[in-house]
Amino acid sequence: MVEKRIYLDHAATTPIREEVAVVLERGHREVFGNPSSTHFEGLRARDALENARAQIAEALRVPGAQVIFTSGGTESDHLGIRGSLEAMEGREDFKGGRVLTSQIEHPAVYGAIDKLDPTKWQSHQLAVDSTGRVLLDGLEAHLEEASTSSIPVALASIIGCNNEVGAAQPLKEIASLLHAENAWLHVDGVQQLGKYPLDMKQLGIDLLTITGHKIYGPKGIGALVVNEETLTDSIEPLLLGGGQEGGLRAGTPWVVGAMAFSEAVRLAVEEQGRESSRLNRLRRLFREGLEANLKGLEFNSSIEGCACHLVHVAFEGIRGNALQEHLDQLGISVSTGSACHSEGGKLSQVLEAMGRSADSIRASVRFSFGKSNTEEQIPILVETIVKGVLYLRNLAGYGESN
Ligand SMILES: Cc1ncc(COP(=O)(O)O)c(C=O)c1O
Repeated sequence: MVEKRIYLDHAATTPIREEVAVVLERGHREVFGNPSSTHFEGLRARDALENARAQIAEALRVPGAQVIFTSGGTESDHLGIRGSLEAMEGREDFKGGRVLTSQIEHPAVYGAIDKLDPTKWQSHQLAVDSTGRVLLDGLEAHLEEASTSSIPVALASIIGCNNEVGAAQPLKEIASLLHAENAWLHVDGVQQLGKYPLDMKQLGIDLLTITGHKIYGPKGIGALVVNEETLTDSIEPLLLGGGQEGGLRAGTPWVVGAMAFSEAVRLAVEEQGRESSRLNRLRRLFREGLEANLKGLEFNSSIEGCACHLVHVAFEGIRGNALQEHLDQLGISVSTGSACHSEGGKLSQVLEAMGRSADSIRASVRFSFGKSNTEEQIPILVETIVKGVLYLRNLAGYGESN
C-alpha cells in the first residue's frame, strides 16, 4: 500500500487547480446575473462572460476567433462537426459531401458523424500507423479520388492527441492538404491543450474543441473555437431557444464556469512548455524503470510525437483490468484507457487500428501523468507495479519470473 494515494488518470479528468478554485469562489460570490439581462447585474455577468471569451481567444493566439461556450468536449465535437456540415446542407449548390475522420477518434466524434444524414454525407475513417499517426498517403488518396467525383470532401475531424495512447497528429500537413481542396479541419484538442503545442493559426485549424476538466478547470464547460479566417456564419446551432452565444448555442451560459475555464486555458497555454518537459521526464523515468524490471512489455505510446502525459503499455500474461483493480487497492489510480469498453467487452478500436493483437489490448493499462505527480513517486510506482505484474503473472501461470 502506498503511503499517499497516487493519481495517474489525468487523461480521464483532473482536479481543479488552486488559481481556478479562487476564480470559481469569487465568481459565485460576485457574479450571479443573467448575461442577457440589461440591468447592472446582467451587464456585470455579460462583461465577465465576454472577458472570459476574449481571454481564451487571446491565450490560443486567435484574438479574432469566435469562442462558443458549450458543456464540454462532447458537445463541442458535435457542434463543430454537425453544426458546420448541417449549415452546408442549406447551400443552394449542395449535392452531398464527404466527411473524414481517423480510426482513432474519441467516441464523441463518431457519435456526431453517426447523427449526420446518410443520404447527404459519406463518412470515411483514415488509417493510422502502428504509433497511431494518421497515414497522410491515405488522406491524399482519398482527396484525389474525391476531387474527380461529384462528392467533395467538406470536412475532416482529426483528434489532435489521442486520448488512449497520446499519438500527436501531423495537423499542419493535414490542414494544408484539406485546404487545397477547400475542405475544413476540425480538431478535437481536448487532450492536446496544455500537453502539446497547439497553435490554431500556425497549424491551420478551422474548428477546435476544448474542455475544462482535462486542464484543471471545471467539469461541464468547454468551447468550440472557430477560426475567423475560415468560418463566420457557417454553423448551424444544435440547441435553439434564447439565441445566446450569438445564436449558436441557446441556454443561459454558465458565466462563472466560463470565467474559471478561461483562467484554466490561460494557465495551461502559459505553462505548456515547462510542464511538458517535466512530464516527459517523468514518463521517461517511469518507462525506463518498467523496462529495467519487467520483460514482456509492449509500449503503445512513444515519448516523441506524443502528448506528454500518457504511457500506455501492455503487460504480457495479465489482464489490464486486473492490474488496474490491484493497483487501486494499493492506492494507485490508473485506467485501462478504454482498452475494453465496459459495455459488451468491445476491444479498443484505437489499439486495433494500431495493429495490436486482442491479447495485447486486454493486457494494456493507461497511466496518465499530471500536476500531482513528482519524480519521487516514480520508484514507488515502478516497484508497486512490477510487484503487481509479477503477482498477477504468477496467478495466471505465466512462465517467467519477470
Ligand atoms: C479526446 C476527447 N474528446 C472529447 C472528450 C469529451 O469531453 P467532455 O468530457 O468534456 O465531454 C474527451 C473526454 O474524455 C476526450 O478525451
